[in-house]
Amino acid sequence: MKFFIDTANLDQIAEGKELGILDGVTTNPSLMAKEGISGRDNILAHYKKICDLVDGDVSAEVISTDFQGMKDELLELKEIAPNIVIKIPMIKDGIKALSFCRDNGIPTNCTLIFSAGQALIAAKAGATYISPFIGRIDDITWDGVELVRQIAEMYAIQMFDTEILAASIRNSNHIVQAATAGADVVTCPLAPILGLLKHPLTDIGLEKFLADHHKANA
Ligand code: G3P
Repeated sequence: MKFFIDTANLDQIAEGKELGILDGVTTNPSLMAKEGISGRDNILAHYKKICDLVDGDVSAEVISTDFQGMKDELLELKEIAPNIVIKIPMIKDGIKALSFCRDNGIPTNCTLIFSAGQALIAAKAGATYISPFIGRIDDITWDGVELVRQIAEMYAIQMFDTEILAASIRNSNHIVQAATAGADVVTCPLAPILGLLKHPLTDIGLEKFLADHHKANA
């Protein structure tokens, strides 16, 4: 399973990269705004900085909601770097944009996936990745991990190549659950990734190992 980091913060991306486990980056307009990045030129320049920082895929989202607008944007975005993946919302013109990208060899990430039906049509349109939003589904008391499991089963039966990129991950357990449910990729902030490292018995065990070592070598 691939690990992407879901942020536009360059320090967090660099910290994730230092761990040696980072396969890519996802961003969205909210995350770019959170970093104070605004204006087309600044946005494009920031994507370039992210692409220079990581070797893996970097999702950059279109803002337009009509096909022509999306097409203009994605053709500009794809010129930033070879590792740019065009993030396209799950709407009707988004399906047209996904099909256009498939026909032109441009990698895509279909975002805002909340149902198996949406995952099916996005895969049919040739999406490279689809992003089901686990946390936001859990927020309304549905089961985000169960959706990932359903999509994984459907893609396996239908032999789609589209990768399931589990997004809106809010905690470390979501990562483990997504992995178990068949996600190909998880994307989340750095904190849930670092949370995977933690166990009190590890801390207690290490403390004891070191204490015994120091006693023996005093
Ligand atoms: O990748 C999508 C993600 O950024 C959404 O996360 O926590 O805003 O639902 P969240």
